Amino acid sequence: MIVLGIETTCDETAAAVVEREEDGRGHILSNVVLSQIEEHAAFGGVVPEIAARAHVEVLDILIAQAMKETSRSFSDLDGVAAAAGPGLIGGLIVGLTTAKAIALVHEKPLIAVNHLEAHALTARLTHDTPFPYCLFLASGGHTQIVAVLEVGEYVRLGTTLDDAIGEAYDKTAKVLGLGYPGGPRVEACAVHGDARRFALPRPMVGRADANFSLSGLKTALRIEAERIAPLSDQDICDLCASFQQAVAEMVIDRLHAGLRLFRDQFGPPSALVAAGGVASNQAIRELLHHVAIEAATVLVLPPTELCTDNGAMIAWAGAERLACGLIDPLETAPRARWPLDQVNRRSASAADAPHA
Ligand code: KG4
Ligand code: ZN
Repeated sequence: MIVLGIETTCDETAAAVVEREEDGRGHILSNVVLSQIEEHAAFGGVVPEIAARAHVEVLDILIAQAMKETSRSFSDLDGVAAAAGPGLIGGLIVGLTTAKAIALVHEKPLIAVNHLEAHALTARLTHDTPFPYCLFLASGGHTQIVAVLEVGEYVRLGTTLDDAIGEAYDKTAKVLGLGYPGGPRVEACAVHGDARRFALPRPMVGRADANFSLSGLKTALRIEAERIAPLSDQDICDLCASFQQAVAEMVIDRLHAGLRLFRDQFGPPSALVAAGGVASNQAIRELLHHVAIEAATVLVLPPTELCTDNGAMIAWAGAERLACGLIDPLETAPRARWPLDQVNRRSASAADAPHA
């Protein structure tokens, strides 16, 4: 089956077409992403109104381009998928309404996809990963360890009690004057820094649960930066390296705890899978290899361009749901908040309805 996917939850406008074969193998036929980074950079972060307007301005062009690259027409599609949440509501309305219009005009099923579910299922598009597997999802808005049991069946094993890891990277970049987006810039500086120079805390390490906490680390970094200000370039690199080392040690410890919980509840996972923007960080990708080896499981890392937000993951999640007969009515509403463990094998609108 062939599905068009639309992503507009945050600051990337994206459209893609993927094919899912009957045996479950996936192929990306086109994948077009336009980042809004330049439009938000002056404000040091994503401005929701600017984001929504920017999605409106380019989405139809991106969809046309994604379709053109496949040399297929809308009538060849088996379904139209859009991210219906969680995310910034203005962008969600733009993407979901556009998907509904295409679905209505061409009489195709609509699939209202949870953005986190799309991150979770990407490993099956890129690596044909069987269920159940353990997902480490780390993005700008979420940091979770999730048992992925089936399409539509997710059990959250751990989550952040405060900031997401990507958010902590972004805030660190802001404190150090590195600008937006923070993750890649902090990573680039960390390469030239001394990770042992600053003794930053490792929150949550050693606990039996699989939760994260980033706000203490973020504050400790700010206090160190203020203590030694004005900052030289080397100071900034050393702070970045020390921050990244603290994050890395926390991630290793939390994943070991998460994998232990997984095994206790569901037996051995088929793989440890990473997803979300933070999973494009090379230092974190490397440490994940060690975590997987120690846990005697396989590591599945989608390519970096499929870890950050993209349309292919939405199209693929749409295809996976469509293959299970999970489609959504045209009245389906976007949801700014939509936790992954509230996604289930019913349609998005059924989950919305109070007595469903
Ligand atoms: O998954 P994503 O593209 O969008 C969300 O759904 O949030 O993730 C974006 C987040 C941002 O906070 C960004 O700073 C972080 O992922 N990020 C990184 C890196 N690349 C992106 N964090 C650390 N290192 C990176 N290389
Ligand atoms: Zn994302």
